[in-house]
Amino acid sequence: MTSVTVHAPAKINLSLGVGGLRDDGFHTLATVYQAIDLHDEVRATRRDDGHIGVSVVSEIDLAEDNHVPVGDDNLAVRAARHLRDHLIARGDDAAGFGVDLAIRKVIPVAGGMAGGSADAAAALVACNALWGAGLDRSTLETLAADLGSDVPFAVRGGTAAGSGRGETLHPVLARGVFHWVVATSAAGLPTPEVFRTFDALSDAHAADPVLPDALLEALAAGDAEALGAALTNDLQAAALSLRPGLQRTLDVGLAAGALGAVVSGSGPTCVFLAASPEHGLDIAVALASAADTADVLQTTGPAAGAEVV
Ligand code: C5P
Repeated sequence: MTSVTVHAPAKINLSLGVGGLRDDGFHTLATVYQAIDLHDEVRATRRDDGHIGVSVVSEIDLAEDNHVPVGDDNLAVRAARHLRDHLIARGDDAAGFGVDLAIRKVIPVAGGMAGGSADAAAALVACNALWGAGLDRSTLETLAADLGSDVPFAVRGGTAAGSGRGETLHPVLARGVFHWVVATSAAGLPTPEVFRTFDALSDAHAADPVLPDALLEALAAGDAEALGAALTNDLQAAALSLRPGLQRTLDVGLAAGALGAVVSGSGPTCVFLAASPEHGLDIAVALASAADTADVLQTTGPAAGAEVV
């Protein structure tokens, strides 16, 4: 095999409970992730000189401060290197394994949808296949956790709860397909800045967060109306304090009849739940004409995790 192409999904957080700041600089989370049908693509082509290279083609407009790194700090490059180190540590003759990673970006950068994590997840799955490493999904998820808090979820996909700093996944019963409208912003929000703002706005001795029962029940029943009412995000106040204009975006979507509206993760992307694709179109039109958004997309969730296409 000389080349393999992998898709990895964006995520939204249906609930995001944030607890106190841990000694390692991360916050304790209790979150429910859902992968949505919006994918980055990574094409991995084998090199035999041990070099790991990356190039990025963007399907979205990248603001100047939203560029994707194309050097060693690119998360997909770090993923390929981490996988190779793991193979060498287990005794494989992998030192000469190299790869060119061509990333096609569709997921907004620094948008709160784990786009960089999707690229890392895609690179892990792609290099695992390309190098014939034969690692199972659970080992890939363990390696993914070393790369970022939500990389394991980008590998797994579907709907899942996350605890710890978000990297420990638990199954969640979710029925049906949900219709989402996604409103992106031209400029991203750096996740660490949003967490710092959260700390400044909140009680430093916050109790450990829990998953909301109403949300879990809505997912188990496949009840979109109940799910819309249960969407929640503890980082939303911090994201809104950094980007006050997002409140208007949320209000426009709700006024257009969305079943629920929430900032995704650390923002600034906002997501809206619709009852049907037609209902989603009404919300999307209202957002595109009235709110300060870069792009308005209609999509569905849950979607599969990182997979070879
Ligand atoms: O894990 P990841 O690299 O995605 O995290 C990016 C940053 O987001 C961290 O450096 C930290 O500032 C913040 N973060 C956090 N608590 C988490 C996850 C992320 O404070 N559970």
